[in-house]
Amino acid sequence: MNDEDAISRLPQAQLDAYDYDAPNSGSNRRLRTAGIMAGTTVFGTLALIAPFVVSRSPLPYMATPGYKVQRALQYISRQGHLRGVFVDLGSGDGEAVYQATRLGYSRAIGVELNWTLYALAQFRRLFFWSRDERSRSTFLCRNFFDFDVSAADTVMVFGVTPLMKPLSEKIARECNAGTYVLSYRFLLPIATRLERDKGDGSSDALYANVVYDEEEMRIYKCLGDTSTKDAKKEELFIK
Ligand SMILES: C[S@@+](CC[C@H](N)C(=O)[O-])C[C@H]1O[C@@H](n2cnc3c(N)ncnc32)[C@H](O)[C@@H]1O
Repeated sequence: MNDEDAISRLPQAQLDAYDYDAPNSGSNRRLRTAGIMAGTTVFGTLALIAPFVVSRSPLPYMATPGYKVQRALQYISRQGHLRGVFVDLGSGDGEAVYQATRLGYSRAIGVELNWTLYALAQFRRLFFWSRDERSRSTFLCRNFFDFDVSAADTVMVFGVTPLMKPLSEKIARECNAGTYVLSYRFLLPIATRLERDKGDGSSDALYANVVYDEEEMRIYKCLGDTSTKDAKKEELFIK
């Protein structure tokens, strides 16, 4: 029996009360559910993409292959360097922090401005890393220029040309002699011994030696006087 037959068989009283214009409540519910799902999908996608579109930094996201970080950290380890605090300035999906944690750093910290990447790194950490790796790692959603790296024994950067000078100056101001700095692809400007010996402030760049240079990964070892920064390092050590 089709709908028209069914309606024609209804008693007259019911036919009089029948509202032919009333929308079908079942299809209404389906429409509302579909609308909510479509709205949530669009809003969710926009929220995930927004940090990439309205970024406050000239530095986009590009990943360093995990094995290159691993090889560089293994090199540092072979130098007898104490695996203390590792900091990745601009930690992206968190892969470098993961490698440092796996290789035994007592604390590995990722600092990331992009909320979506920060959330992705946290997701990986919380759901895919072991309890021990989780306990030795931290991700922070903030500007790396506001994060003090004095406590770091190893710092990693993957910057772009306009950021390399300010990054070099930041590391020079904050890091101790003996700190290792990994820089992927882009050169960190470093002060020459002559500039440093002049001591007239003509160069604020990092005073360091390149000790490793393979597959676009460079490691700098900071030189100079440690004494002024040691007290600060104690104070800032992140628990
Ligand atoms: C080239 S990616 C490197 C990602 C990761 N370190 C790696 O090597 O795979 C640079 C990262 O720095 C982040 N970034 C850019 N400017 C930043 C800032 N001022 N503070 C914190 N993170 C920043 C970007 O969102 C991006 O994830």
